[in-house]
Amino acid sequence: MVQGIRLTQPDVAPAYDRWALQYDDNHNPTRDLDASVVRAAPLLLRGRDVLEFGCGTGKNTAWLAAQAQHVVALDFSLGMLEVAKRRVQASNVHFLQHDVRERWPLEDEAVDVVVGNLVLEHVEDLVPIYEEAARVLRMGGQLFLCELHPYKQLLGSRARFTDRDTSETVHVTAFVHTTAEYVNAGLGAGFTLVQLGEWSDPGATVGDAPRLLSVLFERRRSHAVS
Ligand SMILES: C[S@@+](CC[C@H](N)C(=O)[O-])C[C@H]1O[C@@H](n2cnc3c(N)ncnc32)[C@H](O)[C@@H]1O
Repeated sequence: MVQGIRLTQPDVAPAYDRWALQYDDNHNPTRDLDASVVRAAPLLLRGRDVLEFGCGTGKNTAWLAAQAQHVVALDFSLGMLEVAKRRVQASNVHFLQHDVRERWPLEDEAVDVVVGNLVLEHVEDLVPIYEEAARVLRMGGQLFLCELHPYKQLLGSRARFTDRDTSETVHVTAFVHTTAEYVNAGLGAGFTLVQLGEWSDPGATVGDAPRLLSVLFERRRSHAVS
């Protein structure tokens, strides 16, 4: 199953390897709005253990690390991880190259908070992601996700960049997930939905599609061991 998924999107990690050196400098309102959305989320981070998947260049890792006890930050793009490691040199952060579609390299009930931002657009099957989050979270733990809003995706938005060296526009493989999918996959994994957010650009008017969708879940039930 995981191998099958991998074959359908072999371009994603290489695309982010290419994007890495310009990711932080490009005009990117999605990246910037996400930074403010996660910082406004009611996450209980102080002194807690956090897993961030798809950490990218560490835009949110630095902020998580400033509050948490320990952060494990996963990404499968070595290029993105290299930039993140230069940016975040805090001793409480542990970066790992890992594909989130595979079993996460953590014990059961190892962390208090799982955070994933702008990653699931690139993952076809959400169910294993939520199941892994439920497995690694302690009771009472929080799962926070923030993604490009499906309305925005249906209007044609998806992760892309123009390579500074070649002027080529690179479209990264992306999948549309509806709001119901984001919510129901969480409920199916045993999470309780705490907050659903829809976030618009500063200055957006009524009728503009929201740019981002966020979901906050809590683990209030035991994870069913499979
Ligand atoms: C748009 S960037 C977002 C990075 C960061 N979370 C942020 O908000 O700036 C998406 C990141 O997800 C990573 N990613 C996508 N699919 C992944 C997968 N299957 N496993 C691990 N990382 C993945 C990419 O390599 C990239 O760094």
